[in-house]
Amino acid sequence: MNRPARRDGTPDRSRTSKPRKGAEQPRKQAGRQGGVPRLSNAKPARTQNVPVREPGDGAPSNPWTVGDAAAEGVRLQKVLAQAGVASRRVAEEMIADGRVEVDGEIVTEQGRRVDPNVAVVRVDGVRVVVNENLVHLALNKPRGWQSTMSDDMGRPCVGDIVAERVAAGQRLFHVGRLDADTEGLLLVTNDGELAHRLMHPSYEVPKTYLAWVQGEVPRRLGNTLRNGVELEDGPVKADKFSVLEASEGRSMVRIVLHEGRKHIVRRLLAEVGHPVERLVRTHVGSVALAISVRARCACSAATK
Ligand code: URA
Repeated sequence: MNRPARRDGTPDRSRTSKPRKGAEQPRKQAGRQGGVPRLSNAKPARTQNVPVREPGDGAPSNPWTVGDAAAEGVRLQKVLAQAGVASRRVAEEMIADGRVEVDGEIVTEQGRRVDPNVAVVRVDGVRVVVNENLVHLALNKPRGWQSTMSDDMGRPCVGDIVAERVAAGQRLFHVGRLDADTEGLLLVTNDGELAHRLMHPSYEVPKTYLAWVQGEVPRRLGNTLRNGVELEDGPVKADKFSVLEASEGRSMVRIVLHEGRKHIVRRLLAEVGHPVERLVRTHVGSVALAISVRARCACSAATK
């Protein structure tokens, strides 16, 4: 999947004062051991030890890693086009305009060749993922599914959703967890750096939830939640809170937190007198689950 990086909502390094882990060597940063990312609680999938495909074994998964192109590099405008930034012609204009940076250096000449698997490419200062080996999946985890790559008890788990990819050799893991009862956005990737930036508390990545709760939530509850509520393992503050619907003894609320503690939304809302009946994560940073207002209302009605 080609995409400009940091459309995913992670803060761009060039624009953040947060500590930089591993400087511009994303695949070497803390959290990798023996080449296996261990940035989430995900257990490795049982079937991940698939032999690495050699050139000539059939269709390569990455057209940039075999043949002459890998040895010589790929023209920058082609890399940008393949990453979905722009057409080659527009990419050439971007390069000529001095908008494109490779490994910290603005490149204005057209012939520059880069190795997409190692080059750090930015357009207008925003990092672009040009490494085709990276996989970023936004799953809509169903209620009742485990946030694990495999389940010893045979319960449905996110590993089942990506089983074909894992069997094909992708070393995937999930970024954080959702409770089995919680639905919604769960990222699955093989990108250890991305996982680190989404999960490490120092980056304070906001996560947005829709919660259907018991009771008619008064709007003033937002102040209480934003000011902080004491839980048994310490205080928690909502970054944002809004009441979307409140009628007939139930409410639908939106809450944004940058916390990652277990059951944090359920515990917080129960503590203020509104136990959660249904919880859906809709955003991690700016990565969004496509859930329309109509769908939300339909869901709301369905829970009543
Ligand atoms: N908070 C919860 O209570 N459950 C989740 O799955 C995520 C956040």
